[in-house]
Amino acid sequence: MTEESAGPARSAFVTGASRGLGAAIAKDLAAQGYRVVGTARNPAEDVVDGVSFVACDVTDPESIRSAVARARDLVGTIDIVVTSAGIMHDGPLVSLPQEAVDDVITTNLLGSVNVARETLGDMMMNQWGRLVFVGSVVAMWGSPGQVNYGASKGGLVGAARSLAWELGRFGVTVNVVLPGLIDTGMAANVSAKRHKELMAGTPMRRPGRPEEVTSLVSYLVSEGAGYITGASIPVSGGAGMGL
Ligand SMILES: NC(=O)c1ccc[n+]([C@@H]2O[C@H](COP(=O)([O-])OP(=O)(O)OC[C@H]3O[C@@H](n4cnc5c(N)ncnc54)[C@H](OP(=O)(O)O)[C@@H]3O)[C@@H](O)[C@H]2O)c1
Repeated sequence: MTEESAGPARSAFVTGASRGLGAAIAKDLAAQGYRVVGTARNPAEDVVDGVSFVACDVTDPESIRSAVARARDLVGTIDIVVTSAGIMHDGPLVSLPQEAVDDVITTNLLGSVNVARETLGDMMMNQWGRLVFVGSVVAMWGSPGQVNYGASKGGLVGAARSLAWELGRFGVTVNVVLPGLIDTGMAANVSAKRHKELMAGTPMRRPGRPEEVTSLVSYLVSEGAGYITGASIPVSGGAGMGL
């Protein structure tokens, strides 16, 4: 198999694929010919849009282990991992319940790091791999009421940089995409006032579309992106870039 033809035959594991960005990413990779396993906490069906589903709660390391094992049964060793499972629970830190801090960091940061930990062995052994964390431009920009969320997404930026050092010599890249406000179910929870503020800080003056994130992820997992690692790349309409 040549380098050029290897791409679409590769397998991908995408967390949070039941809806929103994860669903769009999984569907896009499947449409390109990748063998894709998506995760949801309670998958409604075994296969959707060419994506095979397994159950996984990323806050539970045992659930991650069994989901990865099931994915290997379905598609063999895992070449590509995209972690999109994520939550928000906003509010000023001074009055934020302890569980809102813990849940967001456990899901967004530990969930992604633990999924990476469980899947990297395959990539290292194969001397090829692509890992993409779905972060947020909040990691760079900051956002009032999102200390827990910003900490979780900023943590992914730091994790990717260190992991890039650990994995570079194995031909495995690790990158973070930093979406701004993107039209998904999560964005629908943003108040009208906050939406207006966010658009005022966004040069493109509109939310992003899921396909504007999937196109970046699609590139980062491709053969051609083999020399990009440790990077955190905004896809935010210019928001959060000091413009
Ligand atoms: N939309 C935006 O504007 C935006 C901007 C920046 C960054 N992001 C990031 O993009 C990612 C996806 O966001 P989205 O807009 O697609 O959100 P979404 O529509 O709310 O979808 C969230 C996904 O995460 C999964 N999930 C939540 N908790 C989980 C857990 N404990 N274990 C496993 N899966 C879990 C959900 O699966 P279930 O079906 O199991 O609930 C769902 O598939 C998140 O990491 C988010 O922080 C989004």
